[in-house]
Amino acid sequence: MTTPAPSLGDRLFTDAVGAFDLAGVYLGDRLGLYASLATDGPADADELADRTGTDARYIREWLEQQATASILDVDATGRFVLSDAHAAVLVDPESPDLMAPLTRMLVAAFGRLPELVDAYRSGAGLGWERYGADMREGQAAFNRPAFTHLLGTEWLPAIADLHERLSAEPAARVLDVGCGEGWSTIAIARAYPGVRVLGIDLDEPSIVAAREHAAAAGIGDRVEFSHADAATLDGEDFDAAIIIEAVHDMANPVPVLSAIRGALRPEAPLIVVDERVAESFSPPGDEVERFMYGWSITTCLPDGRSRTPSVATGTVMRPDTLRAYADDAGFARFEVLPVENDFFRFYRLGS
Ligand SMILES: C[S@@+](CC[C@H](N)C(=O)[O-])C[C@H]1O[C@@H](n2cnc3c(N)ncnc32)[C@H](O)[C@@H]1O
Repeated sequence: MTTPAPSLGDRLFTDAVGAFDLAGVYLGDRLGLYASLATDGPADADELADRTGTDARYIREWLEQQATASILDVDATGRFVLSDAHAAVLVDPESPDLMAPLTRMLVAAFGRLPELVDAYRSGAGLGWERYGADMREGQAAFNRPAFTHLLGTEWLPAIADLHERLSAEPAARVLDVGCGEGWSTIAIARAYPGVRVLGIDLDEPSIVAAREHAAAAGIGDRVEFSHADAATLDGEDFDAAIIIEAVHDMANPVPVLSAIRGALRPEAPLIVVDERVAESFSPPGDEVERFMYGWSITTCLPDGRSRTPSVATGTVMRPDTLRAYADDAGFARFEVLPVENDFFRFYRLGS
C-alpha cells in the first residue's frame, strides 16, 4: 500500500518546523554555542551563557529548543550535550558533513525578501554584496570541506591529462575565476606542490578574506588574489582555469569565458563546475532541483541581474545553456565530464 502524499498545508507546516530548526542552528553557530559545547563539554544555561558572553534566559530557551528538536541531548545532570556526530554537522569547518553555514546563506537570502518583492515588480537586480557577510562567509564555509577534501584529491585527478600537467614540471599556472574567499584556490595549491594559482573575484571583501585564509594556511606566494572582473583578463599564459559555482551568477558570462580563453595556453582546459540540475525543465523536480530553484528565486538570478547588460541566467543553468555560452565565447570543445557529485556537474571547455 502506498502512503498518500501529505497535503500542501501539512507539508508547509513541516517546512515551518524545519525553518525554526534552521533558525536555532543559525543562533548556535553565530553565537559560538555549539563550538563551546564541542570544545568545553556539556553545560547548563548559566554555564553556557557564562562561557559565551550571552544572556542566560535566552540560552535556556535555546537549549530547550535544541533538545526538543533532538539536536542536543540532555545528560543525567540536566546539562546539554552536543554529540560528536552533530558537532561534525555544526562545528568542524573542514567536516564533510558540515551544514551550519547553509543557515547563514538562508538567513542572508530571506533577509532580502522585502527588497526582492520590489525587484520582482521592477525587474531590478540585487548584487551579491547586498546579501552581506552571512551570504559571502556562508557560501565560502559551506563549500570549503568539498574543496579541501575533494577538489585536489578526486575532482582534478579525475581529469587525467590535467592532473598530469599539474603534477609535472615546469610548475603550472592555474586561474580560479569567481574564487570567493579562496578555499578552492588554496586547495589547488595544496594538492599540487609548485603550482601557482591566481584567484580572481569581483567582490572585494571576498578577496580580502581570501588573502587572510591563504596567509593563515601558510601557502606563501604560490597563491595570489586579484579583485577584478574576469572579463578584463588580458593575455596571460595559464595552463588551466577553473570556475566553481560562478558562471550562473555572472551578469554576462560570454565576455568572461572569452577573456579566459584568451588567457589560456592553446591546449589548456577551462573546467567549469556548476549546479547538477536536470537537463531540461521537467516538474516536479527532485530535492537538488528544488534547492537550486530556491537559490535562483532569492539570490542568484537577482545577483546576475545586478549588472548590465545581463543575460539573467539564474542558478538553474542547464548544460545546453552553458554549451551556448561556450560556443559564443569561441570554445571549440565542450564536454560534460564523468565526475561524480550529487550537487555539481563538471564541464570541460577547450579550444
Ligand atoms: C556563488 S559565489 C562562488 C564563490 C566560490 N567559487 C565558491 O564556490 O565558494 C560566485 C562568485 O562569483 C563572483 N563573480 C561573479 N561574476 C564575476 C566576474 N565577472 N568576475 C569575477 N568574479 C565574478 C562573485 O563575486 C562571487 O564571489
